[in-house]
Amino acid sequence: MKTPNGLQALIDDGVIDEVLRPLKSGKEAAVYVVRSGGEVRCAKVYKDMAQRSFQQRVQYQEGRKVRGSREARAIGKATKYGRRQQEAAWKNAEVDALYQLRDAGVRVPEPHGYFNGVLVMELVTDAEGFAAPRLGEVELGAAQARDFHAVLVRQVVRMLCSGLIHGDLSPYNVLVGPDGPVVIDFPQVVSAAGNNAARTMLLRDVNNLTAYLGRSAPELFDTWYGEEMWALYEAGELRPDSALTGRFVHDTRRVDLDSVRDAINEAREEAIIRQQGREAAAEED
Ligand SMILES: Nc1ncnc2c1ncn2[C@@H]1O[C@H](COP(=O)(O)OP(=O)(O)O)[C@@H](O)[C@H]1O
Ligand SMILES: [Mg+2]
Repeated sequence: MKTPNGLQALIDDGVIDEVLRPLKSGKEAAVYVVRSGGEVRCAKVYKDMAQRSFQQRVQYQEGRKVRGSREARAIGKATKYGRRQQEAAWKNAEVDALYQLRDAGVRVPEPHGYFNGVLVMELVTDAEGFAAPRLGEVELGAAQARDFHAVLVRQVVRMLCSGLIHGDLSPYNVLVGPDGPVVIDFPQVVSAAGNNAARTMLLRDVNNLTAYLGRSAPELFDTWYGEEMWALYEAGELRPDSALTGRFVHDTRRVDLDSVRDAINEAREEAIIRQQGREAAAEED
């Protein structure tokens, strides 16, 4: 195939040998299957930042370390310099997160480096060697849904223990490999300790998974893993292997439990519908 923009430099440098085929192109990135280092891998080419909503990203940057006050101020102000810095920080955030999470024992694609704005990583495949489907695309029985939910909750716990929250976790950012789910797509990763919205984002991430998997295993709708792990994290007691129950004692003096559960389950459903809309729109591009 004709070498796509952005990948020629990697070929010239010998980082990749050949571009085999496009895998997926969304709003923010195009992913290609490539041959590199004698293996089939994938290359994620980030698209231009210009079309993306910039201001909305600023909240994600809170708590992420930015070198130098000029950079910090520029990012806050959306100047041209700021946008460039923002873009660099945004792109590197995913690469940094992949290495950090891999080291923390989270099942993510093995990173193979970041070159000229392109992330080269393991191609997650199914048992036949084809690119793995996304969780949102596979039919699940109740037992499998419960199992995947438990595995994914454990991945979220490990991420949190390593100080990170995915921030955009959904059935479309989880691939199903032969050994189980693999979490992908980390450019918006959030620092758990330094971001005011951290708790909200964590609960939303867990709710997105629960809403989807709860369709196959409805008893999951009555679980509160996000709330439970956040309480342990805040108390400094969360460990990668902490036992969780899914039960959580809400403060019943102030809230009406049934209405809270109804509201959250509604929000879970809405989040799924919105995500599907976004995915459908991205597919049309
Ligand atoms: N390491 C990988 N292995 C297999 N498929 C991948 C991998 N990374 C991304 N993909 C595919 O490319 C799609 C887009 O990648 P993603 O990182 O989610 O970027 P975005 O959603 O921002 O476009 C994914 O939904 C998945 O189908
Ligand atoms: Mg994605």
